Amino acid sequence: MKNNIVYLNGDYLSLGDAKISVLDRGFLFGDGVYEVIPCYKGKLFEFDAHITRLKHSLVEISIDYAYTVEQWRQLLQPLIDNSRNQYIYLHLTRGVGIKRDHAFSKDMIPTVFAMCSNIIPVNNLEQGIKGLTLDDNRWRLCHVKSTALLANVLLKQQAIEIDNSEAILIKDGYVTEGAASNLFAVIDGVLMTPPLTHSILAGITRQVILKIARANNIDVVEQEISIEELKNAQEIWLTSSTREILAVVKLNGTNVADGKVGQLWYTLNRLYQNYKISN
Ligand SMILES: Cc1ncc(COP(=O)(O)O)c(C=O)c1O
Repeated sequence: MKNNIVYLNGDYLSLGDAKISVLDRGFLFGDGVYEVIPCYKGKLFEFDAHITRLKHSLVEISIDYAYTVEQWRQLLQPLIDNSRNQYIYLHLTRGVGIKRDHAFSKDMIPTVFAMCSNIIPVNNLEQGIKGLTLDDNRWRLCHVKSTALLANVLLKQQAIEIDNSEAILIKDGYVTEGAASNLFAVIDGVLMTPPLTHSILAGITRQVILKIARANNIDVVEQEISIEELKNAQEIWLTSSTREILAVVKLNGTNVADGKVGQLWYTLNRLYQNYKISN
């Protein structure tokens, strides 16, 4: 964080001075949406795509906030330290009500908060991580990047408490995504990822991987993956903006293939790192 400065409703303040009302609907109901945007040495990564997704999330929950990509860029710029790899956390809630009430008025003024933190590189990337499958008990609008993340929080915690890095969520016998990531698997030599539905978040990392794979003639399909297919996969990856592409080498305590990071992961990770430098 640059000198510990954050943005709140038009002001740049120190983190300790940034305060919101207890009647803010984000606090009372988790009534808001957010984005996490990587910023490599001052360059915002896939910024248009993140802002486009933010706009979709806002539309889905009926918050009207007509800010352009350039206005967002100007607002965020003062938070960024150009010498580091960081990520912006950008959060909008419906705003402050006059009392606690589930129903909302359409003319509320959204609360806008942003802060910038350093990206901590993943240790021992080539060792891979452990994943645990759990029942996807989240709501039906997982395409909205909502701040209401209690189910994700509890699922991830459950996985972590028994020495896994991520919960891999299963709905009706098929994989949806991770608690805070999208999922890819190599099955019969083909790279697969679940299609975009309301059951998953349209991850920006996922979108970049699809683009890079296609540009490099790597077969990739957007297709449902059953739990049986996942258990027999040659490779499993989890993807997100801050952790990029992580290879899962153990699923529910059992090796994925030979229990080592797979060849396609090495290829895609190299292509992804190159893409980051040139975009
Ligand atoms: C539930 C969920 N799915 C997928 C992702 C990956 O999205 P992105 O690649 O845009 O970071 C995230 C990121 O936090 C997430 O929380």
